[in-house]
Amino acid sequence: MLTGRHIVLGVTGGIAAYKSAHLVRELIRGGAEVQVVMTHAATQFITPLTLSTLSRREVIVEMFPPSPDQPTMQWTKHIDIALWGDVMLVAPASANTIAKIACGMADNFLTTLVLALRCPLVLAPSMDVDMYGNEATQRNIAALRESGCHIIEPESGELASGLHGAGRLPDVDHLVKELAKVLESAHRDFRGKRVLVTAGPTHEAIDPIRYISNRSSGKMGFALAAAAAQRGADVTLISGPVHLQTPLTVRRIDVTTAHEMAAAVEREFPAADLLVMAAAVADFSPAHASATKIKREEQTGDSMTLTLSKVPDILKAIAPSKGKRVVVGFALETDDGVASAQRKLAAKNLDFIVLNNPRDAGAGFGVDTNIVTIIRPDAKPEQLPRAPKIDVAHAILTRAVPLLQ
Ligand code: CTP
Repeated sequence: MLTGRHIVLGVTGGIAAYKSAHLVRELIRGGAEVQVVMTHAATQFITPLTLSTLSRREVIVEMFPPSPDQPTMQWTKHIDIALWGDVMLVAPASANTIAKIACGMADNFLTTLVLALRCPLVLAPSMDVDMYGNEATQRNIAALRESGCHIIEPESGELASGLHGAGRLPDVDHLVKELAKVLESAHRDFRGKRVLVTAGPTHEAIDPIRYISNRSSGKMGFALAAAAAQRGADVTLISGPVHLQTPLTVRRIDVTTAHEMAAAVEREFPAADLLVMAAAVADFSPAHASATKIKREEQTGDSMTLTLSKVPDILKAIAPSKGKRVVVGFALETDDGVASAQRKLAAKNLDFIVLNNPRDAGAGFGVDTNIVTIIRPDAKPEQLPRAPKIDVAHAILTRAVPLLQ
């Protein structure tokens, strides 16, 4: 699995950095090419000379040339390495570097490179027990996991401080095995493909305070964007109002209303090879949003009437310009699912439609798993087992691959 693979190894400042020498040796022995990138703090624990000797490559620490009289450094190195890598492992990943990556900072070579990555990112957190258990660290790790990062859990045991608990960098054999697993699942079959995903609900204003919306959390669409990015696609994600972290390397466009989403899809669709329309777009919006807050006393009697008008069907609108692009829709149905999804498939000129029912336990809004049925023209519906949304996303993308050829 390692033979000929390009592995970017990030080393950050922690006592376990000494293990990276052994790790580099094992990766090289397995036939991989290894590019080591270190933070300044890491160089306090192990020297770049050691790691460059073992990896047989220059180790990169600096973002800028150390002095003006140095030969001009190639400025796009972080981009070149980001494109070169099949996978990046940060081991040990310190609390500081995890926090920086979680908020998208780029204040050294390693974190700048991470922002430009197009391959899977694997983090092996390693630090003292209380730093690992700290709420901020746990929040950052959870956010990174949500945005598609692979986390290798630290081991529990005696730590350098003398304390006992979770925080030890696992053995090199375990790290190599986990890395091989990620490489195995990291199909780079979307390299060079441009994928457009829509996610989340839309908000349709009633007045400056109130709106009409739905229960969509955006999780399925964000998982699709993360999965496509992991597989090497150039991903644009058009998102309604949600509280989710943008997956690594994904370009995100935020919209609020169905009209804004329609305009963004219309603009981005011509450049896409695949559109996955996972957003729960409104079908109706208030005919006239009031410019000022609607007052209770202004309404006579016990009721008020709100007139809604139909908003454009985005998929129907783009159908005539589909060309060779692959278009996948979603259908959320509570009853008569297959027949209704089949009608939408035909009416919206889709390559296939992903049916799910929010009433099924473990499917639908807000939850981290989904149960979907793939419906294609002239084929039997294919029901997939309940699985985490990221796995369902990969399964959907796998079914789009043959259509993209
Ligand atoms: N969709 C769209 N534009 C809309 C509404 C929905 O492009 N204004 C897309 C959704 O993103 C989804 C597909 O159409 O991929 C099916 O959405 P759904 O709401 O299930 O279907 P509708 O055609 O709106 O039918 P209904 O709500 O009546 O079931």
